[in-house]
Amino acid sequence: MAPGTPFLPTATDEKTLRPSFIRDEDERPKVAYNQFSNDIPVISLAGIDDEEGAGGEKRKEICQKIVAACEDWGVFQVVDHGVDPELISKMKRLSKEFFALPPEEKLRFDMSGGKKGGFIVSSHLQGEAVQDWREIVTFFSYPVRARDYSRWPDQPEGWIPVAKSYSEKLMDLACKLLGVLSEAMGLDKEALTKACVDMDQKVVVNFYPKCPQPDLTLGLKRHTDPGTITLLFQDQVGGLQATRDGGKTWITVPPVEGAFVVNLGDHGHYLSNGRFKNADHQAVVNSNYERLSIATFQNPAPEAIVYPLAIREGEKPVLDEPITFAEMYRRKMSKDLELARLKKMAK
Ligand code: SIN
Ligand code: FE2
Repeated sequence: MAPGTPFLPTATDEKTLRPSFIRDEDERPKVAYNQFSNDIPVISLAGIDDEEGAGGEKRKEICQKIVAACEDWGVFQVVDHGVDPELISKMKRLSKEFFALPPEEKLRFDMSGGKKGGFIVSSHLQGEAVQDWREIVTFFSYPVRARDYSRWPDQPEGWIPVAKSYSEKLMDLACKLLGVLSEAMGLDKEALTKACVDMDQKVVVNFYPKCPQPDLTLGLKRHTDPGTITLLFQDQVGGLQATRDGGKTWITVPPVEGAFVVNLGDHGHYLSNGRFKNADHQAVVNSNYERLSIATFQNPAPEAIVYPLAIREGEKPVLDEPITFAEMYRRKMSKDLELARLKKMAK
């Protein structure tokens, strides 16, 4: 590798982890990447568009399952979602090919220095020393005017049209799911989409290389997604984990061929006045297999107002005042930074 090239988890055969990847004991994985649990609902969307057939009973049944999963977990999987399996498999293949490129090719898209979209070697939360065991390539696809194709990888051949089509199909699916949640809140189907003003979409492709000491680190630190809803494709390896009891029990979400994992984010949580959970999740790694996941984040515009759209009888609003999404995000980040600072002081 050329001198001065940063350390890439994909380009090492070191047998022990570098200290910058080692997590405190309380953050380390408690459950293995392949110790799957069937607790998280897998919901077939076949028939969801049929509002008339049999009095719309099928649609109602599907919507009830989605709503129950959002109230209970904030995370569920969908199958029969209508996104062409061929498109998903092309996106997966091209993504894998991107990460297999030599470091200097990937680093042509280096995002450090504030560039919007491109390649990140290994992320860590602002102000936090510990790094995640992953490499990422990310691109911004909505609003359409935000597409800066110069920041989308031009390799491997065919990436741009496939990534574009993938992001468009996932935008449609996300809006459909937001329609279901809006109706469940007693609102028009478009209410949640409209509350996003001009919905942003950011796609993050995560590549988690084999890890020499997976028990000491994480592929992606525990978090909730800030946006409205996230659609995650994962390959068949396993590594996504969720909790709903503040981290006392973690469960590993089983990979289901062709499925998307759907996560509710903070924005979705606040807009539903806390009725829908914001899924608390993380990704663990392993020493046997590399893993790929593709997260499509549907976020409100920075200026969109965050405040409950529906407050049920007897409930208090979960927010004191309406704030912008930019402000919501700023508060989330400063809270995380403060927690990291307190933790450091307590050591
Ligand atoms: C994410 O939370 O964005 C990705 C999780 C995963 O890779 O499973
Ligand atoms: Fe996430």
